[in-house]
Amino acid sequence: REAGQFHTKGRSATHFGTRLRLFPKGTEISLTLKGSNPVCSFSADLLPASDGEAVTLAFLQDVMDILLQYLVKNFDRSTKVIDFHYPNELLQEYNWELADQPQTLEEILLNCRTALKYAIKTGHPRYFNQLSTGLDMVGLAADWLTSTANTNMFTYEIAPVFVLLEYVTLRKMREIIGWPGGSGDGIFSPGGAISNMYAMLIARFKMFPEVKEKGMAAIPRLVAFTSEHSHFSVKKGAAALGIGTDSVILIRCDERGKMIPSDLERRIVEAKQKGFVPFLVSATAGTTVYGAFDPLIAIADICKKYKIWMHVDGAWGGGLLMSRKHKWKLNGVE
Ligand SMILES: Cc1ncc(COP(=O)(O)O)c(C=O)c1O
Repeated sequence: REAGQFHTKGRSATHFGTRLRLFPKGTEISLTLKGSNPVCSFSADLLPASDGEAVTLAFLQDVMDILLQYLVKNFDRSTKVIDFHYPNELLQEYNWELADQPQTLEEILLNCRTALKYAIKTGHPRYFNQLSTGLDMVGLAADWLTSTANTNMFTYEIAPVFVLLEYVTLRKMREIIGWPGGSGDGIFSPGGAISNMYAMLIARFKMFPEVKEKGMAAIPRLVAFTSEHSHFSVKKGAAALGIGTDSVILIRCDERGKMIPSDLERRIVEAKQKGFVPFLVSATAGTTVYGAFDPLIAIADICKKYKIWMHVDGAWGGGLLMSRKHKWKLNGVE
């Protein structure tokens, strides 16, 4: 009960005054006592609390140590990619209750360690996933920086540097895609599914701007085309936008999972004969299962001929635009 440090080995429960905390069996707990107060520090002791600087720096240094140790392990081939447990095992082993009382900073640090212990090491040399793999250190540093700046992007006044960064990054991306001088416009979007829906929204607006005010009742029956190997989010977008999943026509693929352009043209002509209005072709650069690249140049020619908006879902393979060697797979995207 004096200021200082002590170290204990918890069995299943540790009792501090009126607070009961459960730790996994055998957990080692280090406590730093504050003044003559026998309890650890809490988040309320951190900045902006008065005198909060020292405890804030110590706490964040501890967090950083935990993260850096994890990072080093992440790249160690001799470690496991995952310490796998079934959900019921994890639920039983830890106290998952969101307590009404605040946690001590020590407990928060322990929880950080536990979260990383059971996390999948996505940067591990033996971790393979079709959509994400590896961990870029500069990107990680940028993540830390943006979290520390903790700003919103809604106006230049609130985020001058980040708004300019967004502007120049999008311009560069348009240049990489192949638009002269990086002309055009763009947004960052949180994922592939919503990007496909945005594309559908843009295509519809381009053809029928009045839909924004008057809704779907004011325009003819629209139809979109995508390959049978495309991501299900194309249909989901059609559902969300009131276009309807039946209005998404699936085009046949060859044995390698690529959209067959002649089948696309046939289905466009057929739809027009039925009185429907083709407004979007959603091609895929890297299909979810096969990683197939649709023949973008042939599809672009058909879209031009029938005046249809062409979208390329690059959620899987769009990154190849950054590769001198493989960039050609996206020829036609421009
Ligand atoms: C080709 C393709 N498009 C879109 C998506 C959806 O991406 P997200 O999960 O980021 O919404 C996926 C996801 O697997 C995909 O493979």
